[in-house]
Amino acid sequence: MDNAFIAKEFKWDCRSLRPRQRLLSRVVERVLKLQLAPLSFCWENANVEARMNVFHLVSQTAFYRVPGDVVEIGCNSGEMSIVIRKVLDTYAPHKTLHVYDSFEGLPEPAGDDSSNGIYKSGDMSASRRVLVGRFEQLGLDLPHIHQGWFEDTIPSQMPDQISFAYIDADLYSSTKHVLPHVYARLSPGAICAFGVYYDETVFRRDETWDTFKSPGVKRATDEFFADKPESVSVLYANEYSNGYFRKSLDEA
Ligand SMILES: C[S@@+](CC[C@H](N)C(=O)[O-])C[C@H]1O[C@@H](n2cnc3c(N)ncnc32)[C@H](O)[C@@H]1O
Repeated sequence: MDNAFIAKEFKWDCRSLRPRQRLLSRVVERVLKLQLAPLSFCWENANVEARMNVFHLVSQTAFYRVPGDVVEIGCNSGEMSIVIRKVLDTYAPHKTLHVYDSFEGLPEPAGDDSSNGIYKSGDMSASRRVLVGRFEQLGLDLPHIHQGWFEDTIPSQMPDQISFAYIDADLYSSTKHVLPHVYARLSPGAICAFGVYYDETVFRRDETWDTFKSPGVKRATDEFFADKPESVSVLYANEYSNGYFRKSLDEA
């Protein structure tokens, strides 16, 4: 299947200026003698590179028939959920997609999540109605929507077996709660990806904002994998940084 929809259907290709931005750019360049590159900056939850990473990872698990359903933990208004559903419709239409979110944004940050001062309660809030509308507009089957705090919906509302998981929760507390339950349900060969996994030893980005680094995610993830056979690898995602691991084929 092609993946041109990632750039065509939504404003995920943030570096290609839209016609109105191009016009504004030209005016500002001529009048103020300034380059307007920052206006092409991405304000979405992810970018084209992040969508492409997930496109290829879900395709891999679906094409190779890794058993289990698919979960997105931290779905916001469903943009990545659409990418996932489209891939599943091509390679594994029988698989159920489960998505999880408070739809009230982040919980009150505590501990390190609070002291690093990046997030506050309610940041990233999104509308369940928008998610449903997007799926309907594209004629896609709705995912199973598990609305509520992860601490209330996970693990009780999780499928028994998972072939692909996308954890995009921003906070240490949320990632720490979710990861052990996902890990326990991943089939051998299943893939779990993280929305933000910033590792400056792999690719240091001094210029990018703290919200694109979400340090709590890496901390919670690294703590979890300290005694596991797998480890997380960084995937380039421009101003973001994704991560992923593949569940060992050797059952513990
Ligand atoms: C970065 S956004 C997800 C973006 C989405 N995956 C995408 O690619 O478009 C993170 C989401 O996690 C949710 N979230 C984080 N911690 C949560 C928790 N403990 N319970 C419920 N939702 C939570 C927030 O509401 C927010 O919508």
